Amino acid sequence: MYLMRLIYVSQISEHFKPEDIEHILHSARKNNAQFNITGALFFNPKFFLQCIEGSRSSVNKTYKNILNDERHCNIIQLQYQEIEHRDFSAWSMGYVPDSSRLAPIIASYSSGNALDPYTMSGASCYQLLLALKNAMS
Ligand SMILES: Cc1cc2nc3c(=O)[nH]c(=O)nc-3n(C[C@H](O)[C@H](O)[C@H](O)COP(=O)(O)O)c2cc1C
Repeated sequence: MYLMRLIYVSQISEHFKPEDIEHILHSARKNNAQFNITGALFFNPKFFLQCIEGSRSSVNKTYKNILNDERHCNIIQLQYQEIEHRDFSAWSMGYVPDSSRLAPIIASYSSGNALDPYTMSGASCYQLLLALKNAMS
């Protein structure tokens, strides 16, 4: 059973309501615990940047559900690769809201004034999520 990591970026759609973030986290944590998926979700007023890790079949099933969710759009897969170990094993879905405390880390991964994961490599987004996790721990 291969362990995989998948990272994607998406944009908040017109169907997204502010209270949806709580609903998304609730179902993510419930389902991910059941399917042994771990990961992190970064969220700011424009983007979602999410990493999910787990068995290949669980990652694929979870991503299929995520792709069909109307609360976000312009979903671009940035990384999908086999991994030897999990990086987010303590988090069924760690939530990383944008905050001024994290701004220096985010700025260090951004080419312009604001974070834009669409212009970043998968490797860079992965490193950013790791740095945010370490800052949150
Ligand atoms: C940005 C975003 C991230 C999501 N992440 C997950 C996730 O990690 N795991 C998951 O099961 N569902 C996730 N969802 C929710 C799924 O799209 C879908 O609503 C959910 O799997 C439906 O399950 P439920 O019927 O048990 O609530 C996410 C949705 C969005 C918009």
